[in-house]
Amino acid sequence: MTTDRQSPKKIGKKPWPTKMAMEQVYSDKLWGGPQYDYYSGSGSHQPELVLPYIEVVREFLNSFEHPLSVADLGCGDFNVGKALVEHTSSYTAVDIVEDLIERNKKLFQADHLSFHCLDIANDSLPHADCALLRQVLQHLSNAEVQSIVEKLTRYKYVILTEHVPHGDFDPNLDIISGQGIRLKKQSGIDLLAPPFCFKAKSAEHILSLDLGKQGGLIVTTLFSAEPQLFNPHE
Ligand SMILES: C[S@@+](CC[C@H](N)C(=O)[O-])C[C@H]1O[C@@H](n2cnc3c(N)ncnc32)[C@H](O)[C@@H]1O
Repeated sequence: MTTDRQSPKKIGKKPWPTKMAMEQVYSDKLWGGPQYDYYSGSGSHQPELVLPYIEVVREFLNSFEHPLSVADLGCGDFNVGKALVEHTSSYTAVDIVEDLIERNKKLFQADHLSFHCLDIANDSLPHADCALLRQVLQHLSNAEVQSIVEKLTRYKYVILTEHVPHGDFDPNLDIISGQGIRLKKQSGIDLLAPPFCFKAKSAEHILSLDLGKQGGLIVTTLFSAEPQLFNPHE
């Protein structure tokens, strides 16, 4: 059985489409969670990784007099997103895995919450003030990240979370989209660096969680189309 997406390449075949790869991640529980129906990985469930993120994003969302609309791009099993919905004027959550979206529709309901099955690399992105991209780009090839980055300029704010190595690293080394991330190549996503060169008026690290020397860091960055910065420590 082929569970490693690199395998087809090794035997000279094209990698699977990202949709099939992500479906397999969930059906074969490649991110763990055997007791769960769908499991988006320990990064979506470990309280020490989830709770600080929810706190800082809630603080950001609550810093506006008029609540922001949010597009959650790659919402996964929604264990994280579910804690943010009440702090928004509308919340659109999308994922490439259709049966996961159908499951989320049944489990999580609110008047201003909707779920859609979308491939964020190839489809139009939902309108919103703020995009959340949490541990999604790290799984995607540079071609897909590039296509997503070009569409992010429509958002006033982008809150990006990426798993990166400690210290200096060679950013944006390419991978085949799937279960794995660039950490295995001692690399990670840096949207401001080539080849992406994301044009944001400001970029601020609002959270950094240290997973130990080998484990790397999970870094959350707030990109803004306006020069004004949000200071979570004020
Ligand atoms: C590691 S999970 C993170 C889930 C969630 N953001 C969280 O932090 O709990 C990555 C998610 O991105 C989704 N994804 C990957 N590529 C995608 C694409 N091209 N379009 C939409 N969703 C995608 C996967 O299906 C998966 O649910």
